[in-house]
Amino acid sequence: MRIIILDNSQQVAQRGAEIFCQQITNKPDSVIGLATGSTPISMYQALIAKYQQGEVSFSKVTSFNLDEYLGLDGKHPQSYRYFMNDKLFNHININSNQTHVPNGSSETPLTAGQEYEDQIANCGGIDIQLLGIGRNGHIGFNEPTSSLASRTRIKTLTKETIDDNARFFTDDEFQPTLSITMGIGTINQTRAVVLLATGDSKAQAIKDMVEGPISAMSPASALQMHPNAIIIIDEAAASLLSQTDLYKHIEQQQLTLQKT
Ligand code: F6R
Repeated sequence: MRIIILDNSQQVAQRGAEIFCQQITNKPDSVIGLATGSTPISMYQALIAKYQQGEVSFSKVTSFNLDEYLGLDGKHPQSYRYFMNDKLFNHININSNQTHVPNGSSETPLTAGQEYEDQIANCGGIDIQLLGIGRNGHIGFNEPTSSLASRTRIKTLTKETIDDNARFFTDDEFQPTLSITMGIGTINQTRAVVLLATGDSKAQAIKDMVEGPISAMSPASALQMHPNAIIIIDEAAASLLSQTDLYKHIEQQQLTLQKT
């Protein structure tokens, strides 16, 4: 894992946006994996700004989102499809036919996961996948005890995740308790992952992911097996790590090497 510790959440967003722009500049028809939640919003704003300044074009890009609530169609304001349109797709020149979000209103949810896997494979696999992390260590909606080899499928949300996400739903609104999510095996098959985390509420999950044992109780710890995982966090999210000086030293060396 490459651990990048930055001063604040704005720097985290900016660095994430730079990595995605670099990827798209190097390969304009990149297949990118995207995430929802609070954390990537600033990065999406940074990407929109770069697009508006002519630094990047998404015209040939294909995207796959990690997950979707089961039971919400894409027009529902709390659906992840709606979120992506609102926070990113409507503001850049991506072809909407090339944006994919798991189908939360599929009439055949048990086979929808395999269909999504097939779509990813038909596009040649994901070049770079954006991730956030739950306080309980989930990635996508792979909650603790998820199989580390899992593929896209239906997952039951934990009470912790439902409570964390309740802030987005009004009291009388239906809040789903099931999701359709890429599996941990799906995520680990991508060619690169970039995980963003900010704030001290994520500090324990980050410690377990980076320095804990690989365990289904910390789904993100499976990223230790990923050959190209970049973890970008602020000081607060890094606050429980025991080796921060080492990670900063390694990153300095890495930056020096890149300049040579
Ligand atoms: C979202 C997703 C989730 C979030 C995680 C963190 O597509 O897959 O794993 O990344 O719940 O959410 P925030 O960023 O809201 O703390």
